Amino acid sequence: MDALQLARLIREWAPDAAPKVALVLGSGLGDVARAVEGAEAIPYLDLPGFPRSGVSGHAGELMLGRIAGCEVVVLSGRAHMYEHGNPREMAVPIATLAALGVETLILTNAAGSLRESVGPGSAMLITDHIALGPNPLIGVEGDERFVSMVDAYDPALRDVARQAAAAVGIDLAEGVYMWFTGPSFETPAEIRMARVLGADAVGMSTVPEVILARHAGLRVLGLSLITNLGAGMTGRALSHAETKHEAARGGGRMGALLVEILGRITEATS
Ligand code: HPA
Repeated sequence: MDALQLARLIREWAPDAAPKVALVLGSGLGDVARAVEGAEAIPYLDLPGFPRSGVSGHAGELMLGRIAGCEVVVLSGRAHMYEHGNPREMAVPIATLAALGVETLILTNAAGSLRESVGPGSAMLITDHIALGPNPLIGVEGDERFVSMVDAYDPALRDVARQAAAAVGIDLAEGVYMWFTGPSFETPAEIRMARVLGADAVGMSTVPEVILARHAGLRVLGLSLITNLGAGMTGRALSHAETKHEAARGGGRMGALLVEILGRITEATS
């Protein structure tokens, strides 16, 4: 099924829906899905081409409804390149969002921080990224594939996020997110490399989605929930259990920030 057909299928579930904003929930942010009012939930299983997400900590459904008065599509659960080695795992969902009329994509993730002062529980606004994996547009045809990545993380949306953070009293760090494919965590040497190269956080998602979204003409906002300091920065080993635990602990504050951001986007566009 192509994106237009999928968009039509989704409209059969929610005929009146006309969302302009979509939200991808990363690890630990599943609770944000509970803030969706009047929700229609569609399991990815019913959407051909959507990922069969197998990572614990991720649900796997598309929801339509409102958060803070803002009509949204929420993608609860994402696929990662490390699952099957395909950087285009999220191509169908993102093309479907565009076909639904979505204009703004908010991507969230859990990430490791490279700055001691930005510890577990912190929120970081992504200002730019460094990709250490294959480009998801490889094999795509047409001149549109030569996507500019200058201001890929929309400056106006970044301003909205800063104002929202100030309004809810959250210290919002800012920085460059470096994508490692995973699924093993980085080595301490890789973390030192990432710091030298100008990264502020590392993670295993989001970057392919940003590239796909920019190709689809969507404006992007990226937010990281810091769950740990990078490998080798504390002397302790990293674990997925710790990532999930810290993401769940910090998820509430990040959720509050997201609600405030959505309210402000609605205000600005209505
Ligand atoms: N590295 C990569 N991905 C992550 C990390 C990390 O330290 N923490 C949460 N996701």
